[in-house]
Amino acid sequence: MTGLLSTASAGVGSSATASATGFDVEAVRRDFPILAREANGHPLVYLDNAATTQKPLAMIEAISDYYLRYNANVHRGAHALSDEATQAFEGARDILARFINSPASRQVIWTRGTTESINLVAATWGRANLKAGDRVLVPALEHHSNIVPWQMVAAETGAEVVAIEVNDCGEVDLTALKALLDERVKLVSFTHISNALGTVNPVAEVVRLAKSVGARVLIDGAQAVAHCPVDVQALGCDFYAFSGHKVFGPTGIGVLWGREDVLEAMPPYQGGGEMIETVSFAGTTWNTLPYKFEAGTPDIAGAIGLGAAICYLQALDRKAIAAHEADLLAYTWARAADFPGLRRVGEASQIAGVFSFLLDGAHPADVGMLLDQQGVAVRTGHHCAQPLMARYSIPGTVRASFALYNTRDDVDRLFAALEKVRGMLF
Ligand code: ALA
Repeated sequence: MTGLLSTASAGVGSSATASATGFDVEAVRRDFPILAREANGHPLVYLDNAATTQKPLAMIEAISDYYLRYNANVHRGAHALSDEATQAFEGARDILARFINSPASRQVIWTRGTTESINLVAATWGRANLKAGDRVLVPALEHHSNIVPWQMVAAETGAEVVAIEVNDCGEVDLTALKALLDERVKLVSFTHISNALGTVNPVAEVVRLAKSVGARVLIDGAQAVAHCPVDVQALGCDFYAFSGHKVFGPTGIGVLWGREDVLEAMPPYQGGGEMIETVSFAGTTWNTLPYKFEAGTPDIAGAIGLGAAICYLQALDRKAIAAHEADLLAYTWARAADFPGLRRVGEASQIAGVFSFLLDGAHPADVGMLLDQQGVAVRTGHHCAQPLMARYSIPGTVRASFALYNTRDDVDRLFAALEKVRGMLF
């Protein structure tokens, strides 16, 4: 994670559009056509990347190419188009496997996104393995998609979902985690990077601790994959989930990665075509990995598009991206420190991609609306993390979230717009 973190000081006077780190951000911006548009009569400043990232032309063209030239169903047709589609679809799976250093492509299961990946594990592994008295631990900063599926399976099985405390800075309290770890804990489910605060969790350490009591570990990587390289083997987790649309790919496609022995032992998720080996009224047998978990016609275009997005990202210098993003955050924090009445929410020692804040006396929704009128796109509210907001006794935050194509100029536009917001509200 080195290079991600924004602890360096940044000169507030500098506001060039080129990155202060030498990363050629203007060249990258040209790959994302949408960034050239206006919003509400102002050049767009897109700072809602934690909700969804924008898309490079290479990704958009890969999807068009599929529909224009070789649209067909996969694994089924005895014809040229189906062969081409199957090759592109499975080729994308190989790209994703390499992206996270999976030992094998069959451990990469296509889902609709992080939410479905977690629900898949809850519905299959959870139902098969949890029972009354068992515990699932989740930090109090989790997205609802890493809380509610466990509550649903807990209601069915009698297991208990237990929150791990978060400190005032927005870090998961590892002492609290250690105190909770005992033989009742069957799963620790953790986000890699918090969507609401940007906290980078010490996931490798969490895996080590969880494994000491024999618990399985799921990591929600939705916010991480665009910001840092992920190596599932080095992490040692059992499951890693992420969405395509937060890493420059299309919506509606995502990945569940699992350890092979764990996936093999899990019952299927949905029933239907593709996930079976043989079907008869006497009984049905399951297909091999990954197809056992992929009933029905998959999102072929989505998988191909996500593969193209990952190729695009991997062709860039990821260390340079991390340095650029760290510079943006450090610059933002320096600007924030000089802005009266602005309170940062979340000051963990390691943060990536997110600047969450409040303006004293202003509701986040009002701030977001007035920023939007000036062309600055942010998200406001609880960010699907209501327990975290309850922890801080706040209704929500204003969240500016960054991607590789953002610039110091975007940050300056945010603060110029906030000055106007202050003038309008107070
Ligand atoms: N989970 C996404 C976010 O944080 C949608 O905005």
